[in-house]
Amino acid sequence: MATVATETESNRPVDPLDVSRPELYRDDVWQEPFRKLRAESPIHYTPDSDYGAYWSVTTYKPIVEVESLPDIYSSEVGGITLADFIEGSDVKMPMFIARDRPVHTAQRRTVSPAFTPSEMTRMSGDIRQRTAEILDSLPVGKEFDWVDKVSIELTTQMLAILFDFPWEDRRKLTFWSDWAGDIELVKSEELRQKRLEHMFECGAYFQNLWNQKIDKEPTPDLISMMIHSDAMSHMDQYEFIGNLILLIVGGNDTTRNSMSAYAWGLNQFPEERAKLEQNPELIQNAVQEIIRWQTPLAHMRRTATQDTELHGQKIREGDKLAMWYISANRDESVFGPDADAIKVDRENARRHLAFGWGIHRCVGARLAELQITILLEEMAKRRLRVNVTGDPTRVAACFVHGYRSLPVELSKY
Ligand code: HEM
Repeated sequence: MATVATETESNRPVDPLDVSRPELYRDDVWQEPFRKLRAESPIHYTPDSDYGAYWSVTTYKPIVEVESLPDIYSSEVGGITLADFIEGSDVKMPMFIARDRPVHTAQRRTVSPAFTPSEMTRMSGDIRQRTAEILDSLPVGKEFDWVDKVSIELTTQMLAILFDFPWEDRRKLTFWSDWAGDIELVKSEELRQKRLEHMFECGAYFQNLWNQKIDKEPTPDLISMMIHSDAMSHMDQYEFIGNLILLIVGGNDTTRNSMSAYAWGLNQFPEERAKLEQNPELIQNAVQEIIRWQTPLAHMRRTATQDTELHGQKIREGDKLAMWYISANRDESVFGPDADAIKVDRENARRHLAFGWGIHRCVGARLAELQITILLEEMAKRRLRVNVTGDPTRVAACFVHGYRSLPVELSKY
């Protein structure tokens, strides 16, 4: 397909179908290139980009196929984002999202008990109370930043509870998570070094918490679960930090950006917002629909471990593939011609791929759904509506898909 003659900072001609370009997400103009890819080249090779050569998998079925063949499409060989590990400039911090079987299975099994339905029931009272306190502290009829006051605050409070993390320091979790999840940093050696420093700070902080719990009776938080598990108790420092960062980033940016999408998205579709306000029984479905529409992680990457074929395209051993969930969740053949719209009563909203699929499917999905559901229920209880008062600032990156700020004003309906 044709490339146009404009140039990037790296003097590479702009390839309009290189969907890794950060400006597509910063300016919210990613929809059109993905539409084109889905229609004309659903398994598409980009020979040159800021992340090197990669395949884009942009429709629903082939993504499910890639996810269902973890021995052929490895999470471990090249990691889970388009950004490659750079020898000599990065320190390997293995995390189980980026491990293959059997290590992945064992480590995932260790943290899974924190996310069972009975744990969710146990935590829901606490989540509801904290959500209520935050909503009751918000001004009505006065502008504020929804991302900071609601999305970030709710998600960091939740993580602080999950880790039994010192309450007054909880914003450190947001700080570390923002650094860890920003794949744009790959482009600057100086920022990579800074990121590394922050990751070690994070590691040292958690090491201290770990030391405080090591000889104590087990408690129902993630650190204690890791200490008392066979699969995770013998991890070295890097693996320990890696897995903690995974849980922090996994639970932070994603849920946060779904909460911001609730505010921004329903403001774009006021008729749907009215439908939800009049029919609060639609909340559970609306939560799935908002997660689908936002898709807080735009892609996950796999690396082929052997020569293979994917929907007619020859994939070579070592090739990297981006599974663009953000595009599969707009796949017209699954979600219909109105896939770009929020429909709070969309029948198959639950089929979205925002949590991935298969053995790596998000382990925290239930917790994320619970937090967002409670937020919407507590808003409905108070008959509160979020009115957007200005443009959001968006994350300029092709991995975390979200908002840095969103000015809003609350009103009663
Ligand atoms: C894995 C999305 C919330 C922890 C994943 C994956 C995605 C994802 C796409 C990878 C799936 C794959 O490779 O097939 C999301 C979204 C969330 C969310 C959209 C919110 C709306 C959470 C929460 C936590 C969490 C709240 C924990 C507190 C994890 C972990 C993994 C994971 C530990 C690795 C699972 C594995 O490799 O087996 N998530 N996530 N996530 N997520 Fe989430």
